[in-house]
Amino acid sequence: MADRQGDGKPFDAECVSESGHVVVCGNEKGGSGKTTTAIHIVVALLKAGFSVATIDLDMRQKSLDRHIANRAAWARKCGVSLELPTRYDFVTRELDSTIETNFQDFAAFVRVVDELERDHDFVVIDTPGSDSYLMRLAHSMADTLVTPLNDSFVDFDVLGQVDPENYEIEGFSHYASMVRDARRQRREDHDGLIDWVVVRNRVSPLASRNSMSLLACVKQLSMQLGFRIADGIGERMIFREYFPKGLTALDEFDVVGLEGRTTRSHLAARDEVNKLIRMLRLPIDAQSRKLALSRGTWLSKSRELYSGNELHHH
Ligand SMILES: Nc1ncnc2c1ncn2[C@@H]1O[C@H](COP(=O)(O)OP(=O)(O)OP(=O)(O)O)[C@@H](O)[C@H]1O
Ligand SMILES: [Mg+2]
Repeated sequence: MADRQGDGKPFDAECVSESGHVVVCGNEKGGSGKTTTAIHIVVALLKAGFSVATIDLDMRQKSLDRHIANRAAWARKCGVSLELPTRYDFVTRELDSTIETNFQDFAAFVRVVDELERDHDFVVIDTPGSDSYLMRLAHSMADTLVTPLNDSFVDFDVLGQVDPENYEIEGFSHYASMVRDARRQRREDHDGLIDWVVVRNRVSPLASRNSMSLLACVKQLSMQLGFRIADGIGERMIFREYFPKGLTALDEFDVVGLEGRTTRSHLAARDEVNKLIRMLRLPIDAQSRKLALSRGTWLSKSRELYSGNELHHH
């Protein structure tokens, strides 16, 4: 439950929802900025006074978990207080994937998300840059799906293929089709909505022809697939350098034990992140709470579907 009022932040914590809102950061392309985006969303929500739980499904790298652990350690070391989420350490058996372990993962994951969203305004889930059973499950549970996309056609290819000459969209890729199916199913089964936002990442300040053609393709695809486009975050050192200390562009230099002053680049990065958070239109009103509730129904139905008895039939 929200206990602190945001001040000059993108939104104020006035939401006391019965059921938390699930934000998933996903893109099958590795290195697209999922974890960087996730930690900034987490810290922005915490700073605005919301309670946040996190799950890092990237079992190999655990970068989100590590960023948060680094943040806790840095706060202790400097004797300062830094906002921290409830970090849930979800352990999967994905690496020896069988129907039975998948089923156990499914049941455990649904239970964990269900529990976390009861006690938190938001649950933020970071996913790995490769297809996996749990990654797909997490996508189907999202209320808001955030897909960061590097400003490059190589990265775009994970969403759609384009004609090399006229840049018309020729087809959807595996990842985009997976998300489209997950959204369709949520809509059909439970009248629910997965708000899909593609966030352009590492955009160069110099508008290049490549960048403009790419944006035109992203716009075309957004009309075909029904996602929203958020003006991304630029290519900035600050998004890389604070990982060991667990800091973000949203933290104030003077309260986090850093030398020097907040630079212009730091402030610009903070503006970009705040703008992005506003673009995500995360729930602070009754309408959004209704959506979260509809997902609650979906979850309980899914649990029935995967009841313990069914396992024995496999
Ligand atoms: N806007 C940015 N400016 C500068 N560096 C960035 C930016 N966004 C991400 N990076 C850097 O790019 C690398 C990949 O980012 P990140 O780890 O967030 O991507 P990811 O999608 O989570 O990757 P993976 O698929 O491996 O989990 C990191 O080194 C990160 O610090
Ligand atoms: Mg990552």
